[in-house]
Amino acid sequence: MPEVVDLRPHFLCFDDVLSYVAADGLLDWTKLFGNANPVELDVGCGRGMFLFNASTTQPERNFLGVELDFTEGRRGAKRLVKRNQPNARVIGGDANYLLDRLIRPASLSAVHVYFPDPWWKRKHRRRRLFTDLFADRVARVLVPGGSLHMWTDVADYFEIVEALLEHHPLFKSLPTPAEHVAANDLDYQTSFERTRRVAGLPIHRGLWQRVGEPDAIHE
Ligand SMILES: C[S@@+](CC[C@H](N)C(=O)[O-])C[C@H]1O[C@@H](n2cnc3c(N)ncnc32)[C@H](O)[C@@H]1O
Repeated sequence: MPEVVDLRPHFLCFDDVLSYVAADGLLDWTKLFGNANPVELDVGCGRGMFLFNASTTQPERNFLGVELDFTEGRRGAKRLVKRNQPNARVIGGDANYLLDRLIRPASLSAVHVYFPDPWWKRKHRRRRLFTDLFADRVARVLVPGGSLHMWTDVADYFEIVEALLEHHPLFKSLPTPAEHVAANDLDYQTSFERTRRVAGLPIHRGLWQRVGEPDAIHE
């Protein structure tokens, strides 16, 4: 059996996360990152291109990825370990559990959702991550003024998310970020953006701001 390399603290599973919670059982960012800088969450971070690039170019911010697929999540974390990157971590597990059980309300400055699985077949659509319940989860953990980024190449998925957030009282749409010409192979937001753009597919980019009070309840 190949040896499983210990990637802690860059890759953590839910059991490991218990070392970084406060007395109320919710994650304490100062314990996890060793500073009180703003924290951004990348949901379904895959092999971590966004985490790696963003944590390198923005050392004054912290970046947390959550990834269901441990092989992909660990692959991303390996690059962080090599650099001993202090401001990026990956948690292996379900983002919905993390959002519901471990993240303090109004404690994130941004949530990023890049290329969530499309679940093409109609009978599988209900497995899609981004639902009205997911929007509520994100609204709960974002600070007022915080941002939500959602990009995809799946037009119908994007339309649904746009409509859902347009009717959500705690989100306001902001101007969409423009596409830039990639300077090199790593100059993309994520690995999926790279494969989709190289294949010539259009990318839908959405940006929303969390509005309202921190504890506003969506009815
Ligand atoms: C299509 S990939 C995109 C990966 C990456 N964001 C990118 O753009 O390259 C979607 C990722 O979301 C992950 N994922 C799906 N549902 C998830 C969940 N509930 N919690 C955490 N990750 C999830 C999948 O394992 C997969 O790696």
